[in-house]
Order: sequence, then C-alpha cells, then structure tokens
Amino acid sequence: LLALILTGVLGYLLGSIPFGIVITRAFGLGDLRRIGSGNIGATNVLRTGNRPAALATLLLDSGKGAIAVLIARAAVGEDAAQLAAFTSFLGHLYPVWLGFRGGKGVATFLGTLLALAWPVGLACCLTWLATAAVSRISSLSALVAAASGVVWMLLLGQGQMAALGLVLAVLIFIRHHENIRRIANGTEPRIGKKASQDQ
Ligand code: G3P
Repeated sequence: LLALILTGVLGYLLGSIPFGIVITRAFGLGDLRRIGSGNIGATNVLRTGNRPAALATLLLDSGKGAIAVLIARAAVGEDAAQLAAFTSFLGHLYPVWLGFRGGKGVATFLGTLLALAWPVGLACCLTWLATAAVSRISSLSALVAAASGVVWMLLLGQGQMAALGLVLAVLIFIRHHENIRRIANGTEPRIGKKASQDQ
C-alpha cells in the first residue's frame, strides 16, 4: 500500500511540472499565461510562433504522464499504473507550484494512455490528428479524442481502463468550458494562429 501511495504521489509531482512555462521561459518567449488563451499547453506555446518550443512542450507534457505510469507499473503493478495516470493528469491540471491553476491535460492524457495501453493511446492520437486535419481546431480535436478514449478502450479489449478514461474525459471537458463556448460561437482560433503578448 505504501508503494502504491508513493507512486501516486510521484505521479502527481511529475504531472505538476508545467513544461509549457518552463520551455517558453527557456526560449525567452515571455510569460505564457499572458499569451493567447493563457493556457500552459503546447497549443498555446505554438501561438508564440516557435514550433520547436511547442513540440518540446507536447513531448515533455505527454512524456511526464507516460513516465509516471511506467514507474508505477514497474514498482507496483497495473493498479498503481492507473493511479499514477490519474494523479499525473491531476498534477498537470492542478499543480501546487502554480496555485493549482494548471492546464487542460490533453498531452498528459495522451501520454498516460500510450503507456497504459499503447493501442488505445495511438487510437486517441490518431483521433486527435484526424479531427485536427479536418477542423484545424486544437480544442475540438482534444474534446473528440478525449470522448473517443472510452470507446477505444472498450473496442480494443481494455475495458478495465474505461472508468479511468471516463473520469479523464469529463475533466478534459470541464477544463475546456471556455473553448467549448468559443467553438459554439465560431470564435475559437485555428491551430498555429499567432497571438500577440498583450491579448
Ligand atoms: O490542449 C489544450 C487545447 O485543447 C486547447 O488549448 O490554448 O487553445 O485553450 P487552448
């Protein structure tokens, strides 16, 4: 039980590292929370116009979730892996370092799924890409990918993850409430549209 708790806490700590903020600072791109949507994710880093910084944020934010899962699985087992997926995701959404005001969890969601059951993670990534190819809207792609997670889990024989997938999807929808309003209004910006710092 102690090992389970420790890997859960480690998951939270890994998940709470706000790589978008770290990377934009390291690249000298300014304060990410004053750019575009103000979100700390890769989509918003891309609004600085710096593609390598956005790619690094995507890989690190997804990688931290994947690593949390792999450590928990190696140290304890499959239940711990699911717990670490959940706590690392919560860490990204509610990081203690940023007064619990974190991101929307999409990259971390995809990273944890890839580590938990790679076919499910891959299917969700492809769902994101297919939606993005059609809509050019990151948040819409995230919502479709998040909702598809549970469906892929059931279709791909990973029903034991479905409860986790449902909780993560609900949290992703809650965190995207402003995006959902903009999508409905037709004012949600397309991927890669640059933002000025004083927005
Ligand atoms: O990953 C977050 C994305 O779905 C939306 O980000 O900056 O457009 O609110 P943003």
